Amino acid sequence: MKLTQAIENLEDKGFLDIHFEKEINYIDEINKLRKEKNAVILAHYYQRPEIQDIADFVGDSLALAQKAAETQADMIVFAGVHFMAETAKILNPSKKVVLPDLKAGCSLADSCPPSDFEEFVKKHPNHVVVSYVNTSAEIKALTDIVCTSSNAEKIINSIPKDQPIIFAPDRNLGAYLIEKTGREMLLWDGSCLVHEAFSIDKILNLYIENPDAEIIAHPESQAHILKIAKYIGSTAGLLNYVKTSTSKKFIVATEAGILHKMQKEATDKILIAAPSKEDNCNCSECAFMKLNTLKKLYLCMKYELPDVEIEEELRKKAVKSINRMLEISK
Ligand code: 13P
Ligand code: SF4
Repeated sequence: MKLTQAIENLEDKGFLDIHFEKEINYIDEINKLRKEKNAVILAHYYQRPEIQDIADFVGDSLALAQKAAETQADMIVFAGVHFMAETAKILNPSKKVVLPDLKAGCSLADSCPPSDFEEFVKKHPNHVVVSYVNTSAEIKALTDIVCTSSNAEKIINSIPKDQPIIFAPDRNLGAYLIEKTGREMLLWDGSCLVHEAFSIDKILNLYIENPDAEIIAHPESQAHILKIAKYIGSTAGLLNYVKTSTSKKFIVATEAGILHKMQKEATDKILIAAPSKEDNCNCSECAFMKLNTLKKLYLCMKYELPDVEIEEELRKKAVKSINRMLEISK
């Protein structure tokens, strides 16, 4: 085979894109692939700005699950972390679900291993199990009702008052819900690395320097951070608060990626990312979310890999608890 023919063959298979870093306009190519493959790109607010900007829809974990459940697209491209793509596949199994990087996990989901959790649930019979969406399919299969930070309070309040509850895996969100709803709950001892990294001292110092600012926080943050927050809510809740509040300045205690959308939708507001305990680290950025890049987004659309597959028996068990959440959230 002649060299030119060999190169053409490799080019047809797309290998040269990867190995020879040929000049590629990722935005143009992603737009072409989106049309050709009838794909929808769903992105979480913590994604890199360029990924949020090319997505068909950017949202919090509840809105993304709802979009994934109802989409007519043939391929769901999930720019988020693994549990989010997995939830999309559980809800809409006939679709191909791809994600840019299979290693995009979640420290909170990892803090709840299925075999340990199964034992915990068995030790506490007669409890209704409510799990945060940041969990694996196996945990969802052991769960009665899934929730997200947008609907957690509503879901806890929908459970009869005399019914004991297990809440997993986030101890901070769990403690916040106990305070908000007045319900006793057994909490799993898990947490998110990013939301546990915020420094109360540095946030308070920032507040002293910016007394006109409002502190707002995601409920995965620790109790002492939530105590000083004027508003607590999911990523979508925080975005909406910044847009509608009469204040001009905000100290935002959640993953810093959301500042991109906030600034786009509230151009007149001043946004300050809450600082973390460690100096010189990107601790307020989720390393898992940031694994996704435009190049990987392009490659996963082109090769339809990596894709999420889920065994049907497990899917059928897991979908029940997600559907209960979607029903209650209507
Ligand atoms: P939201 O449900 O607010 O989008 O949060 C998801 C998440 O991973 C928070 O760390
Ligand atoms: Fe998981 Fe925390 Fe990253 Fe959200 S920010 S995806 S909870 S590790």
